[in-house]
Amino acid sequence: MSHADDRAESSALTNQQGLFIVLEGIDGAGTTTQAKRLANSLAEYSIGCHLTREPTDNPIGKLLREILTGAHRPTDATTLGLLFAADRADHLQREIFPALQAGKVVISDRYYHSSLAYQGSEEDREWISQLNKRARSPDRTFFLKVDPEVAATRRKADDRDEELFDSVNTQLRVAQGYEEVVRSLSPDEDIVVLDGHQSLDTLSADILRSTLALLGREHEG
Ligand code: TYD
Repeated sequence: MSHADDRAESSALTNQQGLFIVLEGIDGAGTTTQAKRLANSLAEYSIGCHLTREPTDNPIGKLLREILTGAHRPTDATTLGLLFAADRADHLQREIFPALQAGKVVISDRYYHSSLAYQGSEEDREWISQLNKRARSPDRTFFLKVDPEVAATRRKADDRDEELFDSVNTQLRVAQGYEEVVRSLSPDEDIVVLDGHQSLDTLSADILRSTLALLGREHEG
């Protein structure tokens, strides 16, 4: 391979034109709703985006969803930590890097902060962090902070199927986990904590404005 080829390859890997946005929070915090709203708003600005989620819809993510909905005998936080990290590595290669290289805004409903908060409240958080060390950091993460009792009421109103981490006690522990994660993230991590009790419209407007600012675009309206 010539030096010119070398350069072309390394710039394809490092010179990503897109923007990587993550939404995080306990179950019922509203990450799915806000991720969708952000994707719709960016489309109105003719900004190309790739809306995605973890666990993914790829093979490892599908297995995780089966485990979370009780289709298999329960497993432990160690195994879940490994599977979520594997799903994430696959997600990066299959979806996130290609979309960023195509100049898109990637919006992921959950990312490694979920592993640190959920698995990290049952397993050694430092080990979970090591497993995720090679995962590219998001350019900005919006953490929707919601009281666990409020989130539980929202989950009930949604009438969704019961999942592994749904009990209020687990969500209290995970909420505490997120607090610790947000406090101890590296100073290079760009994380914006938002009050998730605000109206959907107020939150979406804040998230949109903040994302447009990263893109050097003005919020119209
Ligand atoms: P969720 O995002 O609520 O999606 P849905 O409502 O479509 O099922 O469910 C994913 C669950 O997986 C949620 O309880 C958080 C959990 N999770 C982890 O425990 N670790 C992780 O690394 C990720 C990405 C998710």
